[in-house]
Amino acid sequence: MQKQYDFLVIGTGMAGMSFALKVAEHGKVAILTKSKAEESNTNFAQGGIAAVTYQPDSYEKHINDTLTAGDGLCKRDIVELVVSEAPERIKELIKWGTAFDTKADGNYDLAKEGGHSEHRILHHKDNTGNEIQISLLKKIKEHKNIELLDYHFAIDLITQHHLGYHVTRHQKDIECYGCYALNIRTKQIITILAKTVFLATGGIGNVYHTTTNPPIATGDGIAMAYRAKCLIENMEFVQFHPTSLYEPGKRPSFLITEAIRGFGAVLKTQKGERFMHKYDERACLAPRDIVARAIDNELKLSGDDYVYLDCTHLDDKELINHFPNIYKKCKSIGIDITRDYIPVVPAAHYVCGGVITDKNGKTSIKRLFAGGEVSSTGLHGANRLASNSLLEAVVFAHRAAQQAIKEIHEYKIKKEVPDWNDEGTSHPEEMILITQEFKELQQIMSNYVGIVRSNLRLKRALDRLDIIYKETEDLYEKSTISPKLCELRNAINVAYIIIKMAKNRRESRGLHYNIDFPEKNKIMNE
Ligand code: FAD
Ligand code: SIN
Repeated sequence: MQKQYDFLVIGTGMAGMSFALKVAEHGKVAILTKSKAEESNTNFAQGGIAAVTYQPDSYEKHINDTLTAGDGLCKRDIVELVVSEAPERIKELIKWGTAFDTKADGNYDLAKEGGHSEHRILHHKDNTGNEIQISLLKKIKEHKNIELLDYHFAIDLITQHHLGYHVTRHQKDIECYGCYALNIRTKQIITILAKTVFLATGGIGNVYHTTTNPPIATGDGIAMAYRAKCLIENMEFVQFHPTSLYEPGKRPSFLITEAIRGFGAVLKTQKGERFMHKYDERACLAPRDIVARAIDNELKLSGDDYVYLDCTHLDDKELINHFPNIYKKCKSIGIDITRDYIPVVPAAHYVCGGVITDKNGKTSIKRLFAGGEVSSTGLHGANRLASNSLLEAVVFAHRAAQQAIKEIHEYKIKKEVPDWNDEGTSHPEEMILITQEFKELQQIMSNYVGIVRSNLRLKRALDRLDIIYKETEDLYEKSTISPKLCELRNAINVAYIIIKMAKNRRESRGLHYNIDFPEKNKIMNE
């Protein structure tokens, strides 16, 4: 079965939805999600979105904070562009129905997070992402040019490869014609063709054992792009959020927003001692890589399973008013944050690298754009500054939309694409073949490719990954397509790229720390 659109958008997070709303004025749009439309990393975002609004803040300060966090690998022109376009995009979000908290005087109630020199985070209580997700989704559902295809799992991007041509990674003329997608309800695989495709599939958190990301974050977009021979970079820079709630066995781990440290909460060991001042003069508000590594080190020194976040000295009423969801969640497991310390551990949270794009969201494949967490735009460098990712998603969705609208008349639907062929395949006999491989993958990544790495750990990880890669490819060849099997295959592809890029980086920088190369090589921001 074939469907045809002008624009195909894969992903209903902030990037995908804001792109879709813009291009929908210029053609027929399909927006795909493998789950229900509300499920995304966007929906879980707590702290908010960074943007310069009032003095004493300035673009210059936001730019410098981003460059400092990025540890020499940000592209300065991209940082400048994102920071200066932020206010326009915030206005648009508000026009689309997003409400940001204000103070009694009517000004925005700006929060502060690690690595920021000023209060500049616009937020909606402690569930900003949900506010954005709901307001954009409402607009998507109302738009007559947008068809929302929920429970449609994108399996692979379609390129010349599917027309029988040999395609190589550095070839300049690879084109994307759409994607194959599994309709999870009907179990039918459809061929979705489009003049342009926007890839907005989000992050990779579930490649790791402990993550703040919802189950949808299995790196599908990066894996699909990689298989389509698209260029990818910086995957070694996986950000671990320092403070996820310690609740063994819970997936995803509940996030305790960094904004709570901006509000005055303090990290302590289980003995009740502050420790962050030993690692950085910014103490609890140092950039995330530093805080996560410090916690990791304290846990290794003490042998404890978690450290504490102490909010008990803060004003009870204000604390509950600013962080109602965190209060409610902790209360539900017997922790009253106004009286008790919160047990926290680092968890895989965000991938800074991904599909390389230019300043207009164009990838190395023609007719394929990317935005949001799946992409690597040059904004984050070796470490993302807190609350810069929602901003990046909305700025690049806008730019990619403008570019796609400009280019759309150049492209025709590639009607000769063949339908998916699954002859000779059958359902895997046992789900355990898939679930066990996934658990093994997560253990390998958490134990060997986590916050602190070494050459030996990376080699071990690659050797073990090779075994589950071969077993899974074999299973995939024989099996009828299912979301779980595709997710496992994608997560293995992503793990492979992370390990390879981590092995290639012969230094420690930003989020990538290798004890065998503790020093940085000299490079500067472009
Ligand atoms: P997502 O919002 O993750 O959307 C991805 C979409 O793609 C989903 O609809 C998914 O179902 C779909 N998809 C994936 N694979 C497929 C497939 N194979 N087929 C079809 N559909 C597919 N950032 C900030 O800036 N500020 C914050 O305060 C903040 N807090 C966060 C808190 C948490 C707990 C988490 C997990 C992240 C947080 N982040 C925050 C990061 C930020 O939320 C994400 O980077 C951002 O929302 C990513 O948006 P996106 O549109 O790229 O992807
Ligand atoms: C948080 O609220 O701490 C998460 C912010 C982010 O990931 O940018």
